[in-house]
Amino acid sequence: MEVRRRSAKVVTFGCQMNERDSETIMGILSSLGFEESSKVEDADIVIFVTCCVRENAENRAFGNLGEMKRLKEGNPNLVVGMCGCMAQRSDLREIVRARMPWVNLVFGTHNIHRLPELLERVFAGERVVEVWDEPDEVVEGLPAVRAYGHKAFVNITYGCDNFCTYCIVPYVRGRERSRRMEDVVAEVCDLAGSGCVEVTLLGQNVNSYGRGLPPLPSGSSPDFADLLHEVNLVDGIRRIRFTTSHPRDFSDKMIEAVASSEKVCEHFHLPLQAGSDRVLEMMHRGYTAERYLALLDRIREAVPGASITTDIMVGFPGETEEDFQATMDVVRQARFDAAFTFIYSPRPGTVAARMPDQIEDEVKHDRVYRLIDLVNSIASEVNDELCGSIVEVMVEGPSERDPSVLSGRTRTNKMIHWTSEKAHNPGDIVMLRVSQTRTWTLYGEEIEGRSGHRGALTCDGHEAAGEEMQGRTARSSGLATDGRCDCNDV
Ligand code: 5AD
Ligand code: SF4
Repeated sequence: MEVRRRSAKVVTFGCQMNERDSETIMGILSSLGFEESSKVEDADIVIFVTCCVRENAENRAFGNLGEMKRLKEGNPNLVVGMCGCMAQRSDLREIVRARMPWVNLVFGTHNIHRLPELLERVFAGERVVEVWDEPDEVVEGLPAVRAYGHKAFVNITYGCDNFCTYCIVPYVRGRERSRRMEDVVAEVCDLAGSGCVEVTLLGQNVNSYGRGLPPLPSGSSPDFADLLHEVNLVDGIRRIRFTTSHPRDFSDKMIEAVASSEKVCEHFHLPLQAGSDRVLEMMHRGYTAERYLALLDRIREAVPGASITTDIMVGFPGETEEDFQATMDVVRQARFDAAFTFIYSPRPGTVAARMPDQIEDEVKHDRVYRLIDLVNSIASEVNDELCGSIVEVMVEGPSERDPSVLSGRTRTNKMIHWTSEKAHNPGDIVMLRVSQTRTWTLYGEEIEGRSGHRGALTCDGHEAAGEEMQGRTARSSGLATDGRCDCNDV
């Protein structure tokens, strides 16, 4: 294939799955001879990896695709591509096909590996819209240009079979498939070999990992606990994270695997969604508030110092003020380290979108503001308790706001800032004493000390919230924005 264009930019919306897909897309483009461009304006090919989990994510992607018209006018050879979850929806790709003639390539979540052939057709002058409704078997061995050297996302499952009634994901990401354990472990070993020290195992529901895989020599199918034990053995990896967990499927065996695997970080992201049993049932979540809270108790008992974060939605069809108060009650009892808060957004084709009693925007907004206030005040109290404690921190690099300040993350995924006399690189592990706390961030002072294992963590728990979490939730409080996320549309 003759490749004339040399520079490519992949723009990502949405979740970590999309971020990981973008790394694969950039990997494929790189293998075709493209260099990564830092700006859309300098690129010969721009690909948007889109999200449709809420309506405003779609609007943002459409806005960006619309802006490409002007760039294309100045550079007719520019290739504009759109892929990801929005492309899987026939109504949305039809809008692109009919109203955005400057977009020359549309492909979906299931045919990323076919990108070289699709591009060849685009370069031959064809406008290509090719989306597969169903996934192939899991495709291994695709190239990737990783976003970071010291940390990486590793897919363990693709798709989702849960069909929560509000959620579009099963329709656009397909049925659940697990990667073979040896393939996951091989990828983690490769990453470790190239200097990566932290992996985040990714799946829509990591706790259902292994369903459908061939049995182990012991006779049983591998599960998420088995996988954690295996990844924990990889030399060079110092931290293992995982997301997202489903509260229904988090077994005691899995809690025990986290507790006994020293590299697995003490952070659990457990989407609650709602605190009313009536709403949870309508959502098809498979647990009650009581069961959810009992799970938190078991986790906190088995993994001292665990941080627990969550996703919560308000305004699900039929949600009454009483239902909403049940959510507030569970939030008070759960004492989350942080929470992503969402306004329910009807997704065409889902069961909930057809339910009666859709809630008015004004009511949804009022509820989400009250929820955010509660979540923030609890997170702030939880962080206050950390003042004076000593935490193990992985260096991320200079702070975005002030390059003279370093940023890093605790094992429990809290962002912490500090200044240091020493030269630290991303991935280094240091020990800090927490000197000040804010709702979403900690500030610390570097101390000498042992590092790199769970025993060094002397805090009494309660750390959490990622940079993404910080940006997302803080934005709803008008504090900050990471410019990427679509949640808290208030
Ligand atoms: N509306 C609002 N929030 C949603 N989420 C998923 N679907 C919707 C929807 N239709 C939220 C859930 C999920 C998170 C990733 O996005 O809280 O856990
Ligand atoms: Fe969506 Fe539910 Fe699957 Fe999560 S578990 S991706 S909320 S259907």
